[in-house]
Amino acid sequence: MKTKILVTGGTGYIGSHTVVELQNAGYEVVIIDNLSNSNAAVIDGIEAITGIRPVFVEGDCTDINTLHELFKANPGIKGIINFAASKAVGESVQKPLLYYRNNLNTLMNLLDLMPEYGVKGIVFSSSCTVYGEPDVNPIDETAPIKPATSPYGNTKQVCEEIIEDYIRSGAPIKSILLRYFNPIGAHPSAEIGELPLGVPQNLVPYLTQTAAGIRKELTVFGDDYNTPDGSCIRDYIDVVDLAKAHVIAMKRMLDGEDTDAVEIFNLGTGRGLSVLELIASFERATGVKVPHKIGPRRAGDIEKIWADPKKANEVLGWTASVPVDETMKNAWAWQCKVSKH
Ligand code: WQD
Repeated sequence: MKTKILVTGGTGYIGSHTVVELQNAGYEVVIIDNLSNSNAAVIDGIEAITGIRPVFVEGDCTDINTLHELFKANPGIKGIINFAASKAVGESVQKPLLYYRNNLNTLMNLLDLMPEYGVKGIVFSSSCTVYGEPDVNPIDETAPIKPATSPYGNTKQVCEEIIEDYIRSGAPIKSILLRYFNPIGAHPSAEIGELPLGVPQNLVPYLTQTAAGIRKELTVFGDDYNTPDGSCIRDYIDVVDLAKAHVIAMKRMLDGEDTDAVEIFNLGTGRGLSVLELIASFERATGVKVPHKIGPRRAGDIEKIWADPKKANEVLGWTASVPVDETMKNAWAWQCKVSKH
């Protein structure tokens, strides 16, 4: 009998790649997604890769009755991975109530129903934004949580606290909080990948759309930072590496002995790359030039952040392994595929 996992936001970028890896690891997957930032064709992509079509419920996790119906129609769910959230930093500044209502109510509804339906644990999709601008790099899980620089980042901090307070109150569940650095790339099959709606805010989709001629030129937001080449540094992690970490975390949470009720892991490569270095990696890997220019800094950007992934490496037994040039090749293959549509 397969262990059944609910993946909220499962037709999204990281969610869809995680569904693939859960199915590859033998889990049965139920997806709920309101398709506000993705489309149902992603389910076909997942099936094309694994040969298994996940159960898909189109619905909004902020509606608790929708979740009651889902749990009743899909009995035996043992774990949840919660990706469903609004996640654009800039938009969150313009629409804070949408972000607090969506991200917090989604989580609180799930937590509320877990004991009622026998769900043992929840893996929460968090972010390195909880650290703000680090005092030192690389950054590990003991680094101080700094005041969030956006409502989006604050929802991640508050959601972590909600989980911890709920479990501390005696709720019979466990949780693992995964703090992602910068997820990039696409599945090597080019069946699924990042599908930003409108003008991409994140670097890699904007870069690949520029390489494809959809955008005229990529603007590098500043080259006057205190970094070797002046551009910002991030820890770019391949999305498939990231997805695999979720499967390991789920297994540890549900089957692990003597694990803490709440565990926190930074998911990164441990390697910092600048914007200009990432552009160079793409051009080296694909042979395609990316027209780009230096522009002014983007408000809210932090200068440099990369992970110390030692805890995830040693405790989870997980290490990011996809070389960045291969990630860039996969991102380009995906862009070429979606550009044909
Ligand atoms: C990366 C670097 C930009 C676009 C955000 C969220 C984080 C997560 C990932 C959700 C920065 C530079 C970008 C461009 C550029 N989101 N850049 N030109 O801001 O590190 O992280 O997205 O989970 O929580 O905070 O990612 O890809 O936007 O930017 O020069 O057109 O690329 O200045 O240095 P970021 P990003």
